[in-house]
Amino acid sequence: MIETFLMERMQSTYENFVDFDLSESGVRPVTLREMVQYGFDLDALMDAPLGYSQSNGTIELRERIAAMYPGSTINHVEVTNGTSEANYILALTLIRAGDSVALQVPNYLQFWGVPRSLGATVERFELACVDAVWDIDWDSFERAVTPKTRFVYITNPNNPTGAVLSRAAMERIVKRVEAVGAYLIADEVYQGAEIEGERSPSFWGMSDRVIVTSGLSKAYGIPGVRIGWMVGPPELIASCWTQHDYITICPNKISDHIARVAVSAGVRTQLYARTRSVLRENLPTLEAWAAEMGDFFEYTPPQAGAIVFMKYNSDAKSIPMCERILKEQSTLIVPGLHFGLESYIRVWLGSKPEYLRDGLARLRAGLAPLVGAGV
Ligand SMILES: Cc1ncc(COP(=O)(O)O)c(C=O)c1O
Repeated sequence: MIETFLMERMQSTYENFVDFDLSESGVRPVTLREMVQYGFDLDALMDAPLGYSQSNGTIELRERIAAMYPGSTINHVEVTNGTSEANYILALTLIRAGDSVALQVPNYLQFWGVPRSLGATVERFELACVDAVWDIDWDSFERAVTPKTRFVYITNPNNPTGAVLSRAAMERIVKRVEAVGAYLIADEVYQGAEIEGERSPSFWGMSDRVIVTSGLSKAYGIPGVRIGWMVGPPELIASCWTQHDYITICPNKISDHIARVAVSAGVRTQLYARTRSVLRENLPTLEAWAAEMGDFFEYTPPQAGAIVFMKYNSDAKSIPMCERILKEQSTLIVPGLHFGLESYIRVWLGSKPEYLRDGLARLRAGLAPLVGAGV
């Protein structure tokens, strides 16, 4: 038995039917035509036989991915159908019944349902907001990460907060992971979507207990081709390949071709720049909108990612509140509880500017009964 992945199910049920979908988390997707402009040879692909692709990713693609992770080779890389498949395969490969998994919360909750379905227990530790800065609550971290811990799962940059861990925090996490003999799965799918600052540092290379997962869905703006990857110690990657053979055999062949272009050094930086410019344009719109509601919202703007995680000043429970707004305003946002934290909502920043403006107007109408008269 596996429990419902609440956020994914809510999105897949409604996202294609609402007037405004503000529940997304990546930047608005790149088109195939744009990929051609970036150098993807569509014409050459027309004559390619649509056979199976290399099951762990073509050598060309793995070479280009390995080039992003210093010291890695193609044997450190497994290409998967999205970051989510990389995460799932790691869970299947690593978890044994009775293991413990340490999960950062708030978070993308794939590693709530999956480890529990495999007989593991999940211990949560908090990413807490103190004085407008999201940082690990170290007491809860020390309690959650013990010699029983099989792996620790972190998203950095974090979904839903958009926060990036400091170098000191990263070092402390890795030190503890090594001390208890666990692995660290660092999901870095938002890396490259930094709004202002430098590209956030990778956990890659900090220890041989580190496994990085990532993919094209967020910072690259290419979720529909479903390409992700994991980078880790070659023996572990070889075991993951075995799991992969049983699940989906290989990534989609057309997608592997597109991904080779997307991750190549020249194109990657252009895609990140595209993402950054969408986010820089949209963030002020959201900030002005939130400011109009006085002290209803309290939030720290994201450092990376097309998402804003906002605490609201009301006793309303986030799931029924979002369901009401969905029904009354045909507008979808994600309730905080879908990330493990009540009294928050997550709002998407990656759309076209006019779509964001109009969607926020609906959201504001939906929130009006809670904000009070005058809104
Ligand atoms: C942290 C995180 N990891 C993985 C995924 C899934 O990514 P993909 O579309 O590459 O499977 C998401 C999607 O929202 C995410 O937020």
